[in-house]
Amino acid sequence: MVATPFFEIYPNSNPIKREKRKKLLETPGFGTLFSDHMALVHWSEKKGWYKAQITARKSLSLDPASAVLHYAQEIFEGLKAYRSQDGRVLLFRPEQNAKRFAQSARRLSMPVLPEEIFLGAVTELVRVDSKWIPEGVDASLYLRPFMFASESFLGVRSAKKYIFCVIASPAGAYFSGGGELVTIWVEEHLSRAAPGGTGAVKCGGNYATSLEAQALAHEKGCDQVAFLDVIERRWVEELGGMNICFVLNSGILVTPPLGGTILPGITRSSILTLAAEAGMKVEERGYSFDEWQHDAADGRLQEVFACGTAAVVTSIGRVRHEKGEFVIGNGTVGSVAQELRQKLVDIQYGRANDSYGWMRVVNTPKLYL
Ligand code: PLP
Ligand code: COI
Repeated sequence: MVATPFFEIYPNSNPIKREKRKKLLETPGFGTLFSDHMALVHWSEKKGWYKAQITARKSLSLDPASAVLHYAQEIFEGLKAYRSQDGRVLLFRPEQNAKRFAQSARRLSMPVLPEEIFLGAVTELVRVDSKWIPEGVDASLYLRPFMFASESFLGVRSAKKYIFCVIASPAGAYFSGGGELVTIWVEEHLSRAAPGGTGAVKCGGNYATSLEAQALAHEKGCDQVAFLDVIERRWVEELGGMNICFVLNSGILVTPPLGGTILPGITRSSILTLAAEAGMKVEERGYSFDEWQHDAADGRLQEVFACGTAAVVTSIGRVRHEKGEFVIGNGTVGSVAQELRQKLVDIQYGRANDSYGWMRVVNTPKLYL
């Protein structure tokens, strides 16, 4: 058993000045702005997990032979810290991210980070950098835990040294323009994941292989790419960075089943719970691109939306593909998506009763505010 390491805290001696930080937090955007600190833990075959610290955010120095640079042994997570109106700092289901991180580590043949170290790193970083949580509507502090092989060795095998790190990035809406409505490109040739591959875990390689299709989507004037299954190129799987849900006008919410090629999204699972609670019939079943087109054409398909930590719940208004394009419903933000999104963010921001016990409070001493 690994003892919970004590995170030593080395405060940043040159943090961003208060006025500048406040200005930056007014328009955080997504993924370009970073807090003053980071969490860092090392692992080696000899020492196990060691040197757990919260320290000034700085560049990492890597030997050019570090295994991650050659064989892509890298995994990551994404979760958010929210500030409630009454000043509490809240994390949404962080244990689920810790569990998925462990599954990703197993699949990439990396050491499994104990849940208490994952949660300790995230919590301590949020505590130290709580003043970096933006306060605007739908704004949060996006947390990015990641781990990579740092051993300098060119032989192909699991590395014997790793670095686990968490960085924090104040965030607003993921999609540029802040819209809650996006256009999707359905990719019929390039694949994201195959059975037996890494589609169900969160490793950098999955995203690297999605980028060509994502670039094509942008060329076609779309915000995101939807991938089909690799065998029949028929079944809708998920988007490059989020899961997908279809709302039929019979009050049914359909989403592709988790079969090893789709990331088991924490937002997805929460949305399915909230939809069932709202009286919808939830069906986790295969939904083909043909069915999607037919349902959209005959009016059976009421809405489609994407869901994920970064995207929250975002309606898909228009779909483009090689042979044309079609509109979902009347091409505007769907009312079911809007209602489910509201239910979710009300829990996340501490405005609604957390009846499922999803939220964790981070005690942030006045010292850091
Ligand atoms: N699918 C992919 C490929 C993703 O990158 C993400 C985002 O993390 C999701 C789904 C949604 O997962 P979650 O809701 O846990 O953020
Ligand atoms: C997340 O939602 O956390 C992701 O990792 C997806 C990515 C599009 C930022």
